[in-house]
Amino acid sequence: MSILTVTAVNAQQKLNPEIEKKIDILMSKMTVEEKVGQMNQYNGFWDVTGPAPVGGTAEQKYENIKKALVGSMLTVRGVKEVKAVQKIAVEQTRLGIPLIIGFDVIHGYKTISPIPLAEAASWDLEAIEKSASTAASEAAASGINWTFGPMMDISRDARWGRVMEGAGEDPFLGSKIAVARIKGFQGDNSFQSPLKIAASAKHFAGYGFVVAGLEYNVAEIGQNTLYNQVLPPFKAAVDQGLKTVMTSFNTLNGIPASADQYLLREILKNKWGFSGFVISDWASIREMIPWGFSKDESAAAKSAVEAGTDMDMEGGIYLPYLIDLVKQGKVDQKYVDDAVRRILRVKYELGLFDDPYRFLDEKREKEIVGSKANNDAVLGMAKKSIVLLKNEKNLLPLKKSGQKILLLGSLASSKNSPLGSWRIAADNNTAVSVLEGMKSYKNNTLNFVEGPKLTHEEPTFLAEVHYNTTDKSGLEEAKNAAKNADVVVMVLGEHGFSSGEARSRTNIDLPGLQEEFLKEIYSVNPNVVLVLNNGRPLTINWASENIPAIVEAWHLGTQAGNAVAQVLYGDYNPSGKLPMTFPRNVGQIPMYYNDYATGRFTDKDGNVFWSHYSDAEKTPLYPFGFGLSYTTFEYSDLKINKKSFAKGESAKVSVTLKNTGKYEGKEVVQLYIHDEFASVVRPVKELKAFQLITLKPGESKSVEFNLTEMELGFYNNNGDFVVEPGSFKIMVGGSSETELTEEFELL
Ligand code: GLC
Repeated sequence: MSILTVTAVNAQQKLNPEIEKKIDILMSKMTVEEKVGQMNQYNGFWDVTGPAPVGGTAEQKYENIKKALVGSMLTVRGVKEVKAVQKIAVEQTRLGIPLIIGFDVIHGYKTISPIPLAEAASWDLEAIEKSASTAASEAAASGINWTFGPMMDISRDARWGRVMEGAGEDPFLGSKIAVARIKGFQGDNSFQSPLKIAASAKHFAGYGFVVAGLEYNVAEIGQNTLYNQVLPPFKAAVDQGLKTVMTSFNTLNGIPASADQYLLREILKNKWGFSGFVISDWASIREMIPWGFSKDESAAAKSAVEAGTDMDMEGGIYLPYLIDLVKQGKVDQKYVDDAVRRILRVKYELGLFDDPYRFLDEKREKEIVGSKANNDAVLGMAKKSIVLLKNEKNLLPLKKSGQKILLLGSLASSKNSPLGSWRIAADNNTAVSVLEGMKSYKNNTLNFVEGPKLTHEEPTFLAEVHYNTTDKSGLEEAKNAAKNADVVVMVLGEHGFSSGEARSRTNIDLPGLQEEFLKEIYSVNPNVVLVLNNGRPLTINWASENIPAIVEAWHLGTQAGNAVAQVLYGDYNPSGKLPMTFPRNVGQIPMYYNDYATGRFTDKDGNVFWSHYSDAEKTPLYPFGFGLSYTTFEYSDLKINKKSFAKGESAKVSVTLKNTGKYEGKEVVQLYIHDEFASVVRPVKELKAFQLITLKPGESKSVEFNLTEMELGFYNNNGDFVVEPGSFKIMVGGSSETELTEEFELL
């Protein structure tokens, strides 16, 4: 296999010559052992976020830190704990190279924001950046200087538990959100502030396309999908100054991502000019052996380092094997030098050499972690993340007085589930529950009945969630209570630990007894508001048909209950739009809006020979980009100021948006294009721009978009970005199913 050369970083990510000089000097002093030590990351001694650590006992790890055989720790947190290990590395080793401390700051640190998929539903890039910045400030104040996020895996498969962690199915929205999150984590990339941390784009690449939605599985992806769907968010992240990348557990077309030279060297490091470093996922280098790719640990070490994986996360592979491989001449030193240079570069850029303790200020930790400002920030994010899916009989917003409201469901009183699954640093039961949020509205009578238990025991991060499918106790009590209520609010869905890593499901209905519970309550009182708590699209067909009001409230984090209550009571008019298609049934998956026409897209001849299911509709339950408001919006007068324009020119698209309802509201105006003929078949529609517009009742506004060839191009199968002349359609509206269309010609 031809080994790709290790090339110096090209211009895309500017290097600092001062830092490069310091790295030269430091590396000239380092032994091979010390170099490989930098490529070794150990898990801390408290939490595990994967299978049992293989790196050794705590004592062995401390010993290796002292021998300068550790470059990084993960899941060590808190100023005191981090200072303990950092002091060893800085004060007790020959060269005093500081550790870089990583942690999964996925949606908040201790003050938890909505799960990333929920944040994506806000389409509010400023709010998302602010959310990441809030998370970064708490993590940095706790001694962390690197987060394993943002996760930017595009996915169209709600069976996969980790859709909660990304930004949904669309590469354009996913790219914008990836950049917003990196700006929140890294700021302007100067790291002058001790409250900014290095980001890690993960999981590189193709993880969201695992076959059958199964975790850690195979991903077989063609060039067209790889270049146009999977890679764009990562490219946008590199262009934003990303500092690290994490490889994914899956194989991509037969090659484990941690050993994929094509991805790591050809694309990421050479073509895109990425100057940071690549870390494996948890033991993903070691797992190339059970994949049947590496015959043993030594072979795994060789393949991974030559491919461009610079650091081994808790895999126990690089440290024991790479030193000998280099000394025996079986691995060229240049691969180790490239990796170490990259790792040292990020440590210098973070200021860790100037002051290894700059992130370690106990007073600042006390001031920042859990502050009111941070709670206000995650509350704001949570409200914006809520999507109104249905609101008939004007059941919502709830009246603020004189109503008898019944609140039902285990999830309504849960203070743990709303935190989601990636919230290791948060203390248990620190979320504001929906019950607590609703209680703050005191002029109604509020009655709470749990009803049948959701799960047999309290779910945890490390164990399967077992839903109650048999014990109906509590159902009669709930039904009796429902008979006397004006409105019944039911909080149903998935427990927070039911989505996330290693949480694949073959059935994405409401789990356990919940649908039966819903039907029984509806049978005695049809005025039901269903509030969903979930980490993935759910196939809620019966509810969608019968329940008058449905609110998508995901897992909204620490301030979940206040956000839900303020939306239900109309103090915040819901403005979210779905970042991922909700299918009618799991058999339709993978289902996504930016689909292709195929040769037989409709039954135009009335025969059966067209692309459809004989047992189900082909349409989604709720489409990408969909979301209602307490007010209504009307789109009209879509115009493009040129019927044709040439490459290098631009055109102006305008549409009139009017608030035709009774409430002030915010609308996400979305612009899609369709390239009608091209050298590679193009999706029937692709999101290319969006704007958040707030209008008062009766107010209207002309919303304008600037259209250039950049919105019209695509990657061909060689990975080249091309813009081809031809006829295009534009569609503008409040969801991907808008009918408002205009045409133009690119010359
Ligand atoms: C996990 C996840 C990854 C995470 C890492 C460290 O297995 O796949 O996203 O950052 O291990 O916790």
